[in-house]
Amino acid sequence: MSDPVDTRPKLLLVDDEPTNLQVLRQILQDDYRLFFAKDGDKALELAARERPDLILLDVMMPGMTGYEVCTRLKQAAETLAIPVIFVTALADVDDEARGFEVGAVDYITKPVSPPIVRARVRTHLSLVRVDELKQTRLQIVQRLGLAAEYKDNETGLHVIRMSHYSRVLALAAGFSELAADDLLNAAPMHDVGKIGIPDAILQKNGKLDETEWRVMRSHAQIGAEIIGEHESGLLRMARSIALTHHEKWDGSGYPNGLKGEEIPLEGRIVAIADVFDALTSVRPYKAAWSVEDTLDLLRRESGKHFDPQLVELFLTQMPEILQIKQRWAEHE
Ligand code: C2E
Ligand code: SIN
Ligand code: SIN
Ligand code: SIN
Ligand code: FE
Ligand code: FE
Repeated sequence: MSDPVDTRPKLLLVDDEPTNLQVLRQILQDDYRLFFAKDGDKALELAARERPDLILLDVMMPGMTGYEVCTRLKQAAETLAIPVIFVTALADVDDEARGFEVGAVDYITKPVSPPIVRARVRTHLSLVRVDELKQTRLQIVQRLGLAAEYKDNETGLHVIRMSHYSRVLALAAGFSELAADDLLNAAPMHDVGKIGIPDAILQKNGKLDETEWRVMRSHAQIGAEIIGEHESGLLRMARSIALTHHEKWDGSGYPNGLKGEEIPLEGRIVAIADVFDALTSVRPYKAAWSVEDTLDLLRRESGKHFDPQLVELFLTQMPEILQIKQRWAEHE
């Protein structure tokens, strides 16, 4: 049997003095995969090739100084996100300031203390992991949304358009940029529950009968169950949208018949964005409507299907909405 894959984090240790590298090796070799460089050129080469998770960087080196190395790491796309901790004998305040200016995350002074080295390395690696976790979560959310869309149609453009419409409407309704971006990222999941709907119903050419329609409506509840309950703001937003995007302002929607402001604001926003896009697009069961006819329906359904204040706001955003529609138009 072969050895398991070595998943220990990679550290790049840079110092012109071999004994210093030996000391760091002793401290870190059990927990990390180590790479060594004795000068700036070698450090830059190894950083680009090995993509270490963290770099411990000496400041005073012949040739390129640690500051120059760090500056160059931060200029290159493939290395700019790698945290750099300076390890140096110079302990005065000016040097520390210079280190942070060029993008270091921390400072360790020589002679190094083993517990301090281990603790600092561990802390900065766990901060990186929080970032990666956020990125991973976002990717999973986007891919699940795509999975539903692939089952429903071929292009995936519907979720892109409706999530951008949702963001524009959210900003107009007073969401912060950050909250609007969460909505943008969560909205593609609104129909993830369609994964649980048989193709014979989902892709039927024509009207659904009463039984089929009951099955179809369960996509809201199924979507909420697929996403599940989480602490993460993004995932809570996604669940709320999946569950409430077919509720109606007058209480006649599904699955829970919520009314008015009982419907979470994100659900009311996505309802408008989703229907605007569904109507202006071709579906297996319907032709595309003109923008004019679609806006007439939004006005007619204001206060019935839709939050009247949000319909007003949506109408004020038409230039931007039409740009998005144009930008992500279907091409045969
Ligand atoms: P969808 O195609 O993404 O449509 C989303 C929403 O846009 C619909 O939610 C509805 O509010 C609005 N909408 C879409 N087409 C029309 C239309 O021709 N007229 C009007 N007035 N509104 C329209 P709804 O009704 O809850 O439907 C949810 C999903 O159920 C739809 O998502 C679609 O996947 C499916 N569906 C609805 N009706 C039919 C149908 O007659 N045949 C088939 N095969 N699927 C249907
Ligand atoms: C070491 O191998 O422990 C240090 C690397 C070096 O001195 O080049
Ligand atoms: C589509 O036909 O564009 C897919 C419908 C949807 O995902 O809501
Ligand atoms: C809005 O006023 O547009 C959003 C808040 C609400 O409709 O209750
Ligand atoms: Fe839906
Ligand atoms: Fe939809």
